[in-house]
Amino acid sequence: MSEVLNRETPLAAAEHAVPGANRDAAYDVARIRADFPILTREVYGKPLVYLDNGASAQKPVQVLDAMDEAYRRYYANVHRGIHRLSQEATDAFEAARDKVARFVGAPNHDEIVFTRGATEAINLVANSWGQRHIGEGDEIVLTVLEHHANIVPWQMLRERTGCVLKVVPLTPEGSPDLQVYESLLGPRTKLVAVAHISNVLGTVLPVRQMIDMAHAAGAKVLLDGCQAAPHMPIDMRALGCDFYVFSSHKLYGPTGIGVLWAPFETLNEMPPYQGGGEMIDRVTFEETTFKSPPHRFEAGTPAIVEAIGLGAAVDYVEGIGLDAIAAHEESLLRYATERLSAIDGLTLYGTAKEKAAILSFNLEGPHAHDVGTILDRSGVAVRCGHHCAQPLMDFLDVPATSRASFGLYNTHAEVDALAAAIEKVKDFF
Ligand code: ALA
Repeated sequence: MSEVLNRETPLAAAEHAVPGANRDAAYDVARIRADFPILTREVYGKPLVYLDNGASAQKPVQVLDAMDEAYRRYYANVHRGIHRLSQEATDAFEAARDKVARFVGAPNHDEIVFTRGATEAINLVANSWGQRHIGEGDEIVLTVLEHHANIVPWQMLRERTGCVLKVVPLTPEGSPDLQVYESLLGPRTKLVAVAHISNVLGTVLPVRQMIDMAHAAGAKVLLDGCQAAPHMPIDMRALGCDFYVFSSHKLYGPTGIGVLWAPFETLNEMPPYQGGGEMIDRVTFEETTFKSPPHRFEAGTPAIVEAIGLGAAVDYVEGIGLDAIAAHEESLLRYATERLSAIDGLTLYGTAKEKAAILSFNLEGPHAHDVGTILDRSGVAVRCGHHCAQPLMDFLDVPATSRASFGLYNTHAEVDALAAAIEKVKDFF
């Protein structure tokens, strides 16, 4: 029996038979896997090999228990009640904000706005900051690899304001072409909005350089950190961007909550995005005044228990250490790249030097959806399709790809399981 996997997981039984089995020894992946109840289940009688972390990650018991405890022991609405439960819920909710502030290196917890997700966070920036600062003829620079969530809100802003969207193409490795990027920056550039890590190619964008170049042109920078926050240390002070967004559910936390970070001065001069309870200072029928950030942007009852769950997820990943997670996933990436590259007829998309453990591929012959269906029957969960990045599919000139995206609990043995399942797909075509 391999030492590296939880003996209770179904995968453990198969683990010793495959060549990648012993590589996880230094990083205690078995202990980590034991925290995720879902990883013990089978699908179609096969051990679950969950490689769809780019779409959403599984939840450790620490997150499930924190949320369960909140509902069972101290649930009430926040910021409104003088009763004991409301005070306890408010304390836990605001403690989660503190944890997120620490997690992203924000100097001030009032710089953390809870949103419904990263998508809502980008819409908030577009509708509030964008509506105020971007006018007709002003330019927003995006890259070809953006997720739809970082394209469509800017197109909607273009409809309202007459601004112009400029798009940076990619190098053959799948990184933004920095020469073209430089040529697109100019006096009308108001914003650069780019992914920190591509959800399809895994490319870690050269964001430090891109931010410096944007700032030199007088533009602000928004980073979509959905794929970065779970996989590498992020620090707002070191990055120097102007807006950073990410979602909880990819960070091993619950769905329904995400984060917008921006410097307090930026948030403080932004108008509210949505109106309602909890974001006001004083309301009369003639006039309403608003609270300071972050509450100005959190109209209505917030996702209270989800925030508490996100706080527990932050504690969880920090407990393992983002550097350790990044090193483990880097090792998985190298091994998976080696295994998949050796498969005849398989094309890998995205070979940037700085890359996260996300592998998009196609096989000669079958459509990605057929690949995904057959992999699923082997217990291997991957995402197939356009990955909410249709312009990137057009750029790559493919209708779709299959995507294996790894997380902190994946193993080298699961890479072997993926490779074996892909070989099986070839038997059908
Ligand atoms: N943005 C998520 C993905 O890439 C849903 O799959």
